[in-house]
Amino acid sequence: MDVSQSEQFRITIDVRHAILAVATVLDFVGVDDLHHGHRVAYMAYECANVLNWSEDKKQFVYFAGLIHDCGVSSTNEHLRLLKLMQPEDISFHCVRGFEGLIKCPILDRFSLAILYHHTPWQELIELDIPEFDRDVAALIFLADRTDFLRARYTHGCHEELITLYENLVTENLLAHRETLFKPEMVDAMCQLVNKDGFWYNMEPAHIEKMALDFKENYFYDSELSLDGVIQIARFLAKIVDAKSPFTFYHSEKVALLAKLVAKECGIADLDAELLYVAGLLHDVGKLKTPDLLLHKPGALTREEYSIVKRHTAYTAFTLHSFFPNSLIAQWASNHHERLDGSGYPFRKGPEQLDLPSRILALVDVFQALTQKRPYRGSMSLSEVLEIMLPMVQQGKLDSNVYDVLLADADNFYQLSTQEYEDIKL
Ligand SMILES: [Fe+2]
Ligand SMILES: [Fe+2]
Ligand SMILES: [Fe+2]
Repeated sequence: MDVSQSEQFRITIDVRHAILAVATVLDFVGVDDLHHGHRVAYMAYECANVLNWSEDKKQFVYFAGLIHDCGVSSTNEHLRLLKLMQPEDISFHCVRGFEGLIKCPILDRFSLAILYHHTPWQELIELDIPEFDRDVAALIFLADRTDFLRARYTHGCHEELITLYENLVTENLLAHRETLFKPEMVDAMCQLVNKDGFWYNMEPAHIEKMALDFKENYFYDSELSLDGVIQIARFLAKIVDAKSPFTFYHSEKVALLAKLVAKECGIADLDAELLYVAGLLHDVGKLKTPDLLLHKPGALTREEYSIVKRHTAYTAFTLHSFFPNSLIAQWASNHHERLDGSGYPFRKGPEQLDLPSRILALVDVFQALTQKRPYRGSMSLSEVLEIMLPMVQQGKLDSNVYDVLLADADNFYQLSTQEYEDIKL
């Protein structure tokens, strides 16, 4: 099967839907505290309504709220943020989020607000930053900590019962009025907290619907170009790769290798670019895999392996919503399929695996073998090929793709192992 009916650039997604898809990916990190980003967006937006913010500013705080924890990749780190009102070492994820955003021009407008989204109000007023960003940062902080209180009081009980704790939530917020939080924001949030409906409306589907009903906005309504898609894909790839020191650059490298091999295989430039996007996002579902399993030294148990395998499905769900009319989701979620039907999650056979899927599967194995892992050091090129050759001979990996890789193996090995911050072609 080839891609002769060239994919063309049929990705039609506007910025609004792209940020919603990014938020879904970020919510994976919560594992058992899902949709934190959605709730923060909702609470901040509702509070901005009470504060009579302009439409633009309200929409801004909503979208910034959705992605505010983009500096958190690790499930353990997410749990730590849920332990205390003002946990220690909080700035790490703020700085990392900021750094990711400033490298992604489409989303860099949110960078300052994200950098300061845990800065106490007392410190925030001393900073020389635009009032707009200060307000947005302060409101996200307040919404974030209100969600922390929600999690604290509903832990182990039915979500609806948060309404029994409205007074305690209010008390906690008032205790930090002026120190942690901007006073008028606390007053506005307390008005909301005391209404049961405020909590009942905190459903992800309802929260996403709010964004679709927002008034027209030139920025959020504009369609992403291919360059914009790549920017957002690289932004997400960095979050995935930051989850483990052993997978650092994995997504970026797989994407790069897949694109180069695709070109060598005669795939049209545009399809090679789309395969690059699929490579960047192929492991996006791993954000939902508990850290413990990814970092485990030694073999996984059957139960653990079963959990790890599921990341392919999460990748598929995400990419279907990102790129509904494209093969990107299919290519990305096929990366653990094997031509002899021994792969996962669908045990697909050769007739179901097109050339881009075969390329991605092969370079994923190649790149993973060239990296250090918790249970072993890195391997030399000949050691890597020694492992891959039997996989090709057993009919698991495509022999033609393997030959293309082999023809320039030194170069591909170097690209795969080289350490550099921003890989560009
Ligand atoms: Fe945060
Ligand atoms: Fe947060
Ligand atoms: Fe994977």
